[in-house]
Amino acid sequence: MLQYVTVNIDGSDIKAPRGSSVLEVAVEYGICIPHLCHIPNLSDIGACRLCIVELVENGQSKVSTSCTLSIQQGMVVKTNTDKIRRLRRNVAELLVSESPNSRAVQDIAVRCGVKDVRYPFRNNNCVLCGRCVRACTELWQAKAIGFVGRGIDRHVERPFNLYSELCKQCDSCVQLCPMTITPCDGPMKPGEEYLCGKCDSQLMIQEERPESCAWCRLGEGFNCGRYAGV
Ligand code: SF4
Ligand code: SF4
Ligand code: FES
Repeated sequence: MLQYVTVNIDGSDIKAPRGSSVLEVAVEYGICIPHLCHIPNLSDIGACRLCIVELVENGQSKVSTSCTLSIQQGMVVKTNTDKIRRLRRNVAELLVSESPNSRAVQDIAVRCGVKDVRYPFRNNNCVLCGRCVRACTELWQAKAIGFVGRGIDRHVERPFNLYSELCKQCDSCVQLCPMTITPCDGPMKPGEEYLCGKCDSQLMIQEERPESCAWCRLGEGFNCGRYAGV
């Protein structure tokens, strides 16, 4: 039987099933926490760090990724403080610098208030979100791809970089990869990358249909709109 606990998110007391993550509860109640690597019903690995929130305990706050933070009775969480917005903007900047060609990443960065990117562009075309690997392992039990390497050499690869018999040709890894959303203005050339801000198209959808938030195309959609125009 489901057991419910009460948590306070952004000043509102919310009842939610024990075992849920703060991100899941926030999404359920329409509280917008930007997120990228989370996929509903798959494990969370806290890879993108966009979903950070402040957890307040005994008058002290600590920053945690909300997708990996299980709710506890009496927990107090703040999702949209100055500190969180500043840190999140920095995370979004780093994501753009990793993969400036990704429209999904650019969209998220624009919505997090990023105007310029202070970090060198690395053109990795992968933000190591692990969506592909978890889909492959958990949805299809295929284990046909995985992370290899450490630090800046970390990347996704097939075992021994060979065609894998384990692959079920399901295409989930491609479908769920944020890099596969068509860039807004075509692929950028190395050395000419910029945060184009042409993601207005999605913000316009939001203006025309305020009830449908365009923000969470990768976050499975929920209403809020409060990050538009930050
Ligand atoms: S297409 Fe192959 S590698 Fe990709 S998720 Fe499916 S089984 Fe895994
Ligand atoms: S290939 Fe795509 S889905 Fe896989 S880790 Fe990189 S960005 Fe994420
Ligand atoms: S770290 Fe939580 S959604 Fe990516």
